[in-house]
Amino acid sequence: MNIAVIGTGHVGLVTCVTFASLGHNVTGTDSDEAKIVSLGEGRSPFFEPGLQELLEEELRSERLSFTSEAAEAIGGAEVVFICVGTPPRADGTANLVAVEKAARTVAQHATRQVILAEKSTVPTGTAQRLARALGRTRPDQSQELAIVSNPEFLREGHAIEDALHPQRILVGAESEHAFAVMRKLYAPLVEQGADLIETNIATAELAKHAANAFLALKISFANALARLCERTGADVVSVADILGRDDRIGRAFLDAGLGWGGSCFPKDLVALERLASKAGYQFPLLREVARINDETADAALEKVRDAVWNLEDKTIALLGLAFKPGTDDVRFAPALALGRRLIGEGARVVGYDPEAADNAQSELSGLEVTGDPYDAALGAHCVVLCTEWDEFKVLDLAKLKEVMAEPVLVDGRNMFDYKEMIEAGFSYYPMGRPEQA
Ligand code: UGA
Repeated sequence: MNIAVIGTGHVGLVTCVTFASLGHNVTGTDSDEAKIVSLGEGRSPFFEPGLQELLEEELRSERLSFTSEAAEAIGGAEVVFICVGTPPRADGTANLVAVEKAARTVAQHATRQVILAEKSTVPTGTAQRLARALGRTRPDQSQELAIVSNPEFLREGHAIEDALHPQRILVGAESEHAFAVMRKLYAPLVEQGADLIETNIATAELAKHAANAFLALKISFANALARLCERTGADVVSVADILGRDDRIGRAFLDAGLGWGGSCFPKDLVALERLASKAGYQFPLLREVARINDETADAALEKVRDAVWNLEDKTIALLGLAFKPGTDDVRFAPALALGRRLIGEGARVVGYDPEAADNAQSELSGLEVTGDPYDAALGAHCVVLCTEWDEFKVLDLAKLKEVMAEPVLVDGRNMFDYKEMIEAGFSYYPMGRPEQA
């Protein structure tokens, strides 16, 4: 099938390369011309495992191309995916300017019957608004444009794997024709065992926001339990394991630590709360989920303060700066939330991350970065493990201790083994677990 993808950010670019690898002809377009040029030359603008290789492969196969001319991408496409950003406005509602613009562009340039698929995360009701806007842009053609909600559930750091082996594919549509086209598009993944869920558009739009909000809620629940564990001597990891043994609860997303960040949970949680409020339903639970997450950074700061006493003129090393392993993305990264607080308290903060150091440095002024974890720890009074990259699991603890001013480690992701840390001579401070018992 011929597909166009508008927007080549995380979701858009992964959509481009994975649909091409499934055998479709894909044209990606973006308003950022420099990005289009570098994509055409086979350079991915961000780090995502496997993406660079797949991009090069699909460009060579000639099933994938990029253009800054939206008309060129859209003309002839059977399905156009909208993958543009929906950043939060000052009041927390999703900014849909780019979504509307993309849809109007499709209406102007479509040369055949086309499915307009929302992949960007949008508030429920967006498809309705789009239909109205498109009807006005091209009243003669509105019947030829069918809007579909096809939210994406991929995770950064596992994006290619998730897109090629999804557990579920969600399609919200209002016509049998639209469902039929989407079935054809996803046939290779369904044959492979993915569940294709067909529903109405409002349900699909809401389900995406609900999924992210629920995952954030699970993590915040675990972090609130961690605070309670710290006050009662219970162990949050064991509590999570016990909860997880109940199939109705599940163990996933109950890892307490520095909390959640990224480009999705923070904005989607607020957007859902705002959407509910606009619809006349107050949903304060969602605000509480965000509040608990903010509290985790304060709790981590208190832990560092407890460990090193005064923070002024102390050197604190942050290991891991990305919002999670496997990405160079630092948007709402918990490491930076903690770093900002530490710098504010007068500490010298030195960070290391295998992929995200440059992004982190541009995001947080005053942060120093190094190209090696031991350099970051050099002369440090405390190391804080902020992102659980695999390479930190095999750190040489003796070497780490040797380069530090004082062997103190705050484990923001409960990644290290308590006994091993004590044996290596560290004062060890996990999150929500008994310390140095
Ligand atoms: C999230 C969802 O998991 C995807 O399904 C969704 O498609 C995506 O948002 C999106 O809407 O685009 P992502 O933001 O890539 O994916 O990251 P997650 O793997 O969900 O992790 C989010 C944050 O939660 C990270 O900061 C991670 O460190 C933290 N986390 C995760 C915890 O603190 N504890 C846990 O137990 C799990």
